[in-house]
Amino acid sequence: MKTALIILAAGKGTRMNSDLPKVLHPLAAAPLLAHAMRAGAALEPERTVVVAGHGAALVRKAALEYDATVSVVEQTEQLGTAHAAAQARDALAGFDGTAIVLFGDTPFVRPETLRAMTDARAQGNDVVILGFEAADPGRYGRLVMSGGSLERIVEYKDASEAERRISLCNSGVLACDATLLFELIDATGNDNASGEYYLTDVVGLARARGLSATAVTCDESETLGINTRAELAGAEAAFQTRARAAAFENGVTMPAPDTVHFAIDTEIGRDTVIEPNVVFGPGVTVESGACIRAFSHLEGCHVARGGTVGPYARLRPGAELAEDVRIGNFVEVKNAQIGCGTKVNHLSYIGDATLGSATNVGAGTITCNYDGVMKHHTHIGNNVFIGSNTMLVAPVHVGDHAMTGSGSVITSDVEPEALALARAPQVEKPGMATKLLQMLKARKAQQQRGS
Ligand code: UD1
Ligand code: CA
Repeated sequence: MKTALIILAAGKGTRMNSDLPKVLHPLAAAPLLAHAMRAGAALEPERTVVVAGHGAALVRKAALEYDATVSVVEQTEQLGTAHAAAQARDALAGFDGTAIVLFGDTPFVRPETLRAMTDARAQGNDVVILGFEAADPGRYGRLVMSGGSLERIVEYKDASEAERRISLCNSGVLACDATLLFELIDATGNDNASGEYYLTDVVGLARARGLSATAVTCDESETLGINTRAELAGAEAAFQTRARAAAFENGVTMPAPDTVHFAIDTEIGRDTVIEPNVVFGPGVTVESGACIRAFSHLEGCHVARGGTVGPYARLRPGAELAEDVRIGNFVEVKNAQIGCGTKVNHLSYIGDATLGSATNVGAGTITCNYDGVMKHHTHIGNNVFIGSNTMLVAPVHVGDHAMTGSGSVITSDVEPEALALARAPQVEKPGMATKLLQMLKARKAQQQRGS
């Protein structure tokens, strides 16, 4: 079915008590808005329109960062959900298919549920609403059903006592032919308890025209809308619980799952072990049979089969680890490709670098990639041995099978198979240590007599 998405994200989110627009607060390392966009994207919509309002510039930027093909329109005054959806009219000009309205602050709607809604549309229902049985219906809009069909939606504020006893509630998600939707929206008014143009009124308006409406239902956990920071934390916990369960299903071992934090797009292969207290930022893929050891932080990186990372390692964006690479404790890797079987085991910084395979990087090695103005690249070949505490002042190139002596400051290229030593030569003075000690002790004794 041809679909277009309208994602409403203009609200201020007053109860967040924040300078940041509500839909940009992060959940699983991505803005709330990205979760709604991701759920909708599973329908492969022809067009997606994000309706921004509060913090529109920031919301626009985030929406385009997530998907550069979406249109972002602005609702300059927040006059209600129908008025918000109406802002998408021009962006959807010429589109003839089903429009689906999603809320930017409702992150957990599943693609399967949206497909159930488009199926209901395909079966001839003019308006399809996503409803749920609420444990505590609170202030949600209520779905007034009659037989199998939906008569209308009544907002809590406008509902009678009897209507407030209905537990079937409106999630806010709606599917309707796009042209019809804008016609119905034009017919909404704001003569209600909130003085707002309610999107929910399109149901009653459709029925009055002799059109059909129905409700598809889902679990309440899918329709969770975020209004407060406490709800955001609750949503994060719910996301993590599901992500951990999915990781177990996929064959991942986690002895302390409650301490492992996943991002929206983390991918972990089978038979990988994730030790306690590991945090995944966005954009991480770990292949099978790897081990991410305790207290490591990974983002924007890739760990191939059999790799070992940590404990206490940090992989930053652009870290590309080939098979069987070992990154040890207190090692930071950024924008670096590391070849098969290479080891960087202790206390190192590898940034803006390419390392070949079967190379060993000694403890305390640093790629000095930044001169204060520009970043430079370090290239290390295959089967290289970098001695401990080597400073590699980029741009620099170390050839295959070369070695650097411990403590070297390498400022020029090293030929393949060469040994580079770039440190002060050792000077030895026989007996001098004892003499020096005697001299210092004598000086201290003299000072104590004087005082
Ligand atoms: C809405 C529904 C209600 C439903 C509930 C589910 C209406 C009239 N009511 O109520 O039936 O049970 O959601 O959570 O639709 N927005 C705009 N511009 C506006 C107003 C809202 O973009 O002018 C956006 C908000 O940013 C938010 C969404 O629309 O993402 C919902 O708005 P909100 O004011 O939270 O609606 P509710 O009162 O919760
Ligand atoms: Ca709401």
